Parts: sequence; C-alpha cells; structure tokens
Amino acid sequence: MTKKHAYITTAIPYVNGQPHIGHALDYLLADAWARYQRQLGKVVRFQTGVDEHGNKIAAKAAEQGLAPQAYVDSMYGNFLEFIQKLEVDSTDFIRTTDIKHKAAVQYIWQQLEAAGLLYKGSYEGWYCQGCEAFITDKEAAENNGICPDHKTAYQRLSEENYYFKASAFTLEITKALESGKMKIIPEFRKKEFLELIKDGLADVSVSRPTKSLSWGVPVPSDPSQVMYVWLDALSNYITVLGYPNDPLWKEFWPADVQVVGKDILRFHAGIWPAMLMALDLPLPKALLVHGHITSGGAKMSKSVGNVVDPVEILDHFGPEAFRYFFLRHVPTLDDGDFTWERFEAAYNGELGNDLGNLVQRVAAMTMRYQAGVLSDIPPNRHDMGPYRAALETFEFNRALDEVWGIVRALNQYLDRVKPWEVAKNRQTDVEAEAHLAEILSHAAGTLLQVAELLVPFLPSTARAIQTIFASGVIPADVQPLFPKIYLHTEDPRTTKQS
Ligand code: MSP
Repeated sequence: MTKKHAYITTAIPYVNGQPHIGHALDYLLADAWARYQRQLGKVVRFQTGVDEHGNKIAAKAAEQGLAPQAYVDSMYGNFLEFIQKLEVDSTDFIRTTDIKHKAAVQYIWQQLEAAGLLYKGSYEGWYCQGCEAFITDKEAAENNGICPDHKTAYQRLSEENYYFKASAFTLEITKALESGKMKIIPEFRKKEFLELIKDGLADVSVSRPTKSLSWGVPVPSDPSQVMYVWLDALSNYITVLGYPNDPLWKEFWPADVQVVGKDILRFHAGIWPAMLMALDLPLPKALLVHGHITSGGAKMSKSVGNVVDPVEILDHFGPEAFRYFFLRHVPTLDDGDFTWERFEAAYNGELGNDLGNLVQRVAAMTMRYQAGVLSDIPPNRHDMGPYRAALETFEFNRALDEVWGIVRALNQYLDRVKPWEVAKNRQTDVEAEAHLAEILSHAAGTLLQVAELLVPFLPSTARAIQTIFASGVIPADVQPLFPKIYLHTEDPRTTKQS
C-alpha cells in the first residue's frame, strides 16, 4: 500500500532582513514537490516559517530601537506575504516565538537531559553572529578571523555552556547516510558531508549564558542559560506538527523531504539527526540541498550593490514568470545565476513566444475556422518517462526541459502542417475540413497534456490552459498568457529610428 501522507519542510529564514531570492528557492522547490505529491493523491503537509531568536535578531531590534519581540512582530508578516505572492501553497507557517513551539523545545531539552546527553562545559573559542555558529580554531585560522560570508570578524567567547553529546551519534549518522536511510541529494553533497565528519562529529554547545544571549528559549532547569538558536530552530520541523502533545505529528513525521541551502547542510545532517536519535525519532528520508544564486556571477552583497529584490521581479512579471525562471534556469541541485538579461530572455522567449503564442494561436485558429469548437480531443501520446524520472530525482529543471521539448515540437508541427493553408483549401478539397479539425484537436490535446505537466511548477498557467481547451469550446475572452515585457533589455520589435 502506498503511503497517503507526505511531509516536506523548508529552512526557516532569520527575520532580520527582507525576504530574498535564496528564501524563494527553498519555497519553490518545496512547493513544486508538494504540488506533484498532491497530483499523485497524497495528503501533503508543507511547513514554512521564520527563525526569530538569537543575537543577530536581538542586535537588529536594538538598532531599530525596538524590543526583540516587537521587532519580530513587525517582520514576520513580510515572509508570510512573500510566500503568498509566490503562490506557494504551504499548509503551515511557524514562528519560533510561538508559545507552543517554545514549550515543545523546552520539552525536547528535558528529553536530552533525561537521556544523559547534556553536560556543562566551558567554551573558549570563536563565534560568528552572522552564521549563528561556533567556529573551530582551524576554520578561524583558515579565514584569518573573518567570516567569508558575512565579512565580519569572529567574536572571541569565553563562557559556560551546556553541550549536547552529538559525538555519540557519529557512527549511527554515518551509517544512516551511507546506507541511504537518510539520503542527501545530490550525492556529491553527501560525500562532502561524510568527509567533514570523518574524524567524528563534535559535541555541540547548545546554550549560552544570558549575559551573552538573552533572546531565546530559556533552559528549563537553569535560568542563567538560554538555548542556542539552532537547537530551537531545528526543532520547528516537529513542533510545527504538534510534537509532543498532538498525536497527529506521527502521521507526518518522518519528513519525506527537507529542503535546505548548501550553507546549512551541516546543521541538518549533523546536529539535527543527532537530536532525533536522542529523542528516539526516525530520521527524515531525504535532505534536498540546493545551491546558491549569484547575481551576474557574483555573490549578492549590499556593498557590491548587486542584490536582486525578488519583490521587484514579482511585481513586474508575476509569480508564474518568477517560478519559471528559478525552477528551470537555476539547476535544482547546483548553483545558478540571475541576470535581468537571462530573466527577460526566458520570459519573452520561452514563456511569451514558445508557450504563450502557441496557446493563443491554437485558440485563435479554433475560433476562426471552427467557431471555437474542437472535435474530439485525442488522448496524449507523449512519453512522460523522462519527465517523471526527473521529478523523482529532484531535477526540476530537467522536468521543465522535457515540457518545453513538447511545446517546441508542437510549434514545429504547426509550422510544418500549416493549418492556415489547410483552411484555405476547404473550398476545393473535401478532406481538408476533417484534416484541419484533426490538427487543431491534436494541438489542443497536447496543450492539455502540457498543462497537466505544468501543475507542479506553474499552477496558474496550467489552470489557464485548461480553462481554454478542456471543455472543447474555446471561451470568447482568451487573454494572451505572457505579454511581452522589456524593462531591462531592448525590445527586438522596436526598429531604431536614425
Ligand atoms: N535561520 C536559518 C535556518 C534555520 S532552519 C532550521 C538560516 N536562515 S537564512 O535566512 O540565513 O537562510 C534561509 C535559507 O535561504 C537557507 O536555505 C539558505 O541556504 C537560503 N539562502 C540564503 N541565501 C541564498 C542564496 N544567495 N542563494 C540560495 N539560497 C540561499 O540559515
């Protein structure tokens, strides 16, 4: 019997800034998978949310002259709105300041304590507030004391902390990864991670004294300590399901897929499975690791001035164009690059010309030659094996390549059979009428198949195509699907005046 329930999660962004393209990638990959699972008849739980604790956020709040809670209250809505703008259909949105979440995290702490997996120690070493991560001496030396991602100097800490004995799980985690019990996709990331822990997982500092960190979940048995933000944040994947009190969590955990960016794989493949093992919970079946998006080949950075605002793209081009670009032109399992040139070329060329014009052409010819009525639409005949295979291996860009293969082939077919010529011959050729009807039904049938294949990626476009062709009668008011937009590149249709 196939499992009815499916669960997918996304990394919860820190709320100390506006939503950015990297966050969108997490959401889109999860949304495409969730929509695909729903198409297969599964009941899907799809978590999103925000990470609201830690020093980074407390510092930003102070900068704005706000109390941390007031600050996060003013920020989380931007993420919720962003998710909606992207037409990402998540079922849950968690804030780590939710009372239920905090209580569940304290329960988790007590479980780790009861299992004898927490001990007090002193930490003398480096910390990066941008990464909210403890940094080894080796790493600090390699980077000359400056975080390569945040370009800020590591802080020197000397403090009392509680440690979690993650080291006790090294062997079990290694085995789970090697056997594929917990997959890391793509494979090369699994190899990288196994290499990283070949000398053993280090114990993790999981609390900080209130003097160094006050904005977080208090340690239940020790008011002088606050939990480390990653312990709190990772727990969200189960607390959002109602762990430990609402038994429903058992229907969805273990997650089928947890989507994360490559920079946070080490937290998800190391400390997270160690926590789960300590709680005697099953491991997620797969971690889907995406790469990073650069802008014009460079890391996005405020000082370089190449940060691309996702909301600007969405406001001008809409969610379907946004989803299309990042799901097709950023390889799912690797790094990708954004430029307005690439984006507008994909929008105008592939969505506008290849697909939009095709839909328009078939609808318009059916109107003109057959009063909008299609004869019986034949069942589709395209081999969907490669498309399905790409979805199963999380190569969404390849799945979309397959769809565009069909779109392009249909365009070529119409250019070859020239229905407009066939239409002209209807006065003289008795077979032309039937031939024309056949061409147009074949085209409509293919477009309906395209629509079905687009459901996980471009849900509104899929619906629009279905509305036009599924009933067999073309509606009177068919609007162009992707009208041309040239904001950053030259419109090739404009002839230059000299
Ligand atoms: N709060 C933690 C995650 C906790 S999950 C229990 C965090 N937040 S983040 O805001 O820094 O990053 C959130 C997600 O955005 C991560 O998956 C990260 O990889 C992704 N991205 C951030 N910048 C990115 C790019 N430039 N490109 C692609 N994704 C990147 O880490």
